[in-house]
Amino acid sequence: MDIRLADAASIPLDDECADLVVAFMSLHDVDAMPAAIKEVARILVPGGRFCLAIVHPINSSGRFEASTADARFVISEDYLRPFRYSETEERDGLSMTFHSQHRPIEAYFVALEEAGLLVETLREPSVPDQAIMSPAGRRWQRLPLFLHLRARRP
Ligand SMILES: C[S@@+](CC[C@H](N)C(=O)[O-])C[C@H]1O[C@@H](n2cnc3c(N)ncnc32)[C@H](O)[C@@H]1O
Repeated sequence: MDIRLADAASIPLDDECADLVVAFMSLHDVDAMPAAIKEVARILVPGGRFCLAIVHPINSSGRFEASTADARFVISEDYLRPFRYSETEERDGLSMTFHSQHRPIEAYFVALEEAGLLVETLREPSVPDQAIMSPAGRRWQRLPLFLHLRARRP
């Protein structure tokens, strides 16, 4: 297996060498997101597909006011204005901080459009019942946490 570590805005692969590119939960963490999507278009063969999953812009735009099932979800920043945010996750004594950017959904569509990629499908997957661990956790089923897109290079 050939594994390479590189900046998504400068992918060390030839033009038109891939028939599928997957960016799973990463583009909202990539500073140069439009340049990364241009790179995707460059390495795809005509007819090739690009699948991406990001934190849904509705999710990154706001916060629940409380940890109850019926808590209000409040957008306190401007949805249309990109901003940076960080979140630290702790698990099994390990801590990891993710530095991300909220962007309106249009920013991703404009980047795909400018790269010449056509969106074929969009999904807003809901959290399945089996992932809800308490009644209060039902709040996470009230809005899309993630956005899935599939685009095609014509
Ligand atoms: C939330 S993590 C997701 C990682 C993995 N896809 C997963 O689902 O577990 C986001 C990843 O994006 C990577 N990333 C951020 N900016 C990048 C860039 N400019 N080029 C390549 N990777 C980048 C980070 O290093 C991190 O590994």
